[in-house]
Amino acid sequence: MRKILLTGGAGFIGAYCLEMLLQKYPDYYVVNIDKLTYASDLSRLKKHIKNPNYHFVLGDITDVLLVAHLFNQFQFDAVIHIAAESHVDRSIIDPPLFVKTNIEGTNVLLHAAYTHWFEGPKQVRSNFLHHRFLYISTDEVYGSLSDPIDAFREDAPMAPTNPYSGSKAAAECLVNAYLHSYGLDMVVTRSTNNYGIGQHSEKLIPMVVDRALKGQSIPLHGDGGMIREWLHVTDHVRAIDLVFHQGKSGHTYNIGSYDRRTNLAVAHMICKLLDRMKPLAEKSYTALITFVADRPSQDRRYALDNRKISEQLGWKPMISFQEGLEELVANYYEQCALRF
Ligand SMILES: NC(=O)c1ccc[n+]([C@@H]2O[C@H](COP(=O)([O-])OP(=O)(O)OC[C@H]3O[C@@H](n4cnc5c(N)ncnc54)[C@H](O)[C@@H]3O)[C@@H](O)[C@H]2O)c1
Repeated sequence: MRKILLTGGAGFIGAYCLEMLLQKYPDYYVVNIDKLTYASDLSRLKKHIKNPNYHFVLGDITDVLLVAHLFNQFQFDAVIHIAAESHVDRSIIDPPLFVKTNIEGTNVLLHAAYTHWFEGPKQVRSNFLHHRFLYISTDEVYGSLSDPIDAFREDAPMAPTNPYSGSKAAAECLVNAYLHSYGLDMVVTRSTNNYGIGQHSEKLIPMVVDRALKGQSIPLHGDGGMIREWLHVTDHVRAIDLVFHQGKSGHTYNIGSYDRRTNLAVAHMICKLLDRMKPLAEKSYTALITFVADRPSQDRRYALDNRKISEQLGWKPMISFQEGLEELVANYYEQCALRF
């Protein structure tokens, strides 16, 4: 069996990735290490508890001894590193936490992989060709896109503007350093904003749906004019699968949807869907939208050029934003109806 170390499998994207691995690859044994921070949700993992190909470890990726112990115990063939502190607003309040988890944690994993795969006993080294380290990064490492550039390609310089994107960019540099210094087989993905059922309510889309359904104000940063590119989480996971199995070693792949909208437009779309599903007596949900102080450093526009992954690996997004959003809002509404 191929043994995979998955980090952050109790998080939003990690849980979808875990499900894909266990369903699609019955010959994989997946060990999921997760610290279970506020962003995690154990209920995402319930369905796998009895799966003999799955093992959960409650632990911190910055714990050097634990990670080394896991490599010795399970003899991993590959790492899919998804765990991170992932919320920009929190990173502005607590940068050291982001440095610790996102940079130090990545280094602990890289060092353990390197030590185990390159310096381990002979039988481990003989598997060398199977070894791969996939790092899940973000479009935020590019910083804000300014005219006249239409979209970032993978060779654009990294220019992060907040502690979250800075820590992700620094971790990417480390992954790259292990490629050049030790020949580690690595691949990196940079995806745009994800959405889908089960996302934490601090992120834009669930926040808007949640507050609208509770009749609370819907706060948008600044004038709501920030442009983000929206990717359904299952499309992201299909791309992760392709890059992990077929991506060229040492390469980075953008994963975007070309579906670019302002935060205000997204909030309007959600409100209109709710107006249809659960109309308010005298007004539209859009009346709940308010504007609050912007972040100290706000990236105005993100947009990715997807050509590399589509030309090299044949990937393209399958779920349109309208379709994905309708499904998500309907699901939220049903969950809400069940609760009350
Ligand atoms: N959500 C997005 O829109 C998006 C877009 C592009 C890239 N990404 C990247 O994808 C990854 C996952 O994002 P997400 O939104 O699913 O994140 P999330 O916040 O929902 O989940 C992160 C998971 O990592 C775990 N974790 C945090 N610190 C840990 C530690 N020290 N040790 C072990 N586990 C730890 C958490 O408990 C949680 O389960 C992140 O690396 C993020 O940078 C996310």
